Amino acid sequence: MRLIILAPPGGGKGTQASRLSDQYNIPQVETGKILRQAVQEGSQLGKDAKSYMSSGNLVPDEIMIEIIRNRFAEADCQAGFILDGFPRTLQQARALDKLLDEQEVELDAVIYLNVPVAVIQERLSRRRVCSDCGATYHLDTKPPGQTGICDSCQGELIQRSDDREEAIEQRLKQYSSKTEPLLEFYQDKGVLLEIDGAQSISRVESAIDTALTESQ
Ligand code: AP5
Repeated sequence: MRLIILAPPGGGKGTQASRLSDQYNIPQVETGKILRQAVQEGSQLGKDAKSYMSSGNLVPDEIMIEIIRNRFAEADCQAGFILDGFPRTLQQARALDKLLDEQEVELDAVIYLNVPVAVIQERLSRRRVCSDCGATYHLDTKPPGQTGICDSCQGELIQRSDDREEAIEQRLKQYSSKTEPLLEFYQDKGVLLEIDGAQSISRVESAIDTALTESQ
């Protein structure tokens, strides 16, 4: 399976991609996580990306395309992948097409989670993430067993620095100007599967499974 999951910030990409990764035994290639790790490690990539991320802006296309090119060269991506957070601009989408052509493979589907802005603001302000493993929780819809502690690794749960109000607003602006045009791009290719992403996590899961089965 070669999949993309596309949604506004906080639309549930990570939540669904992690499940699909287990279900199809394919790696979840999560660009936001790759960048956050680089920032934490203090690498050159992290230094370059940090200010864009904390202000809610997109990291430049050249950097992102290079990250994906390197990640695709790793062995675990040969049998498939789910891209979570890439592509986010038309330039990234065209670069991805080129990479797939070079490998003589095609995308199976682009899963688009359609979620209204009001729902996104609520989800992001109530999201908590593990400072060690990056697992995602929501204070109401997906709470941890023990307050403030990660179920998987016992790490401390924190709020992401870009889940502040001003950064959320900027992420939404970037999404509508730069990422939304991808919907038409993939619609024209006949691979876009639109899902109502405002439903409960389990209903979104079932809707994705049904849409993927029907598309094959
Ligand atoms: P990234 O980490 O990709 O951030 P994002 O797109 O803003 O997406 P999020 O991780 O915030 O949300 P999500 O859609 O994964 O939702 P989640 O499942 O967590 O990128 C961060 C930054 O890195 C970018 O702003 C940019 O600067 C940079 N970057 C990354 N990739 C880039 C690229 N390709 N080009 C340029 N720059 C790039 O869910 C959110 C919350 O809701 C959680 O609490 C979850 O538990 C809850 N939830 C999920 N689904 C449901 C549901 N159905 N019902 C109720 N609650 C739900």
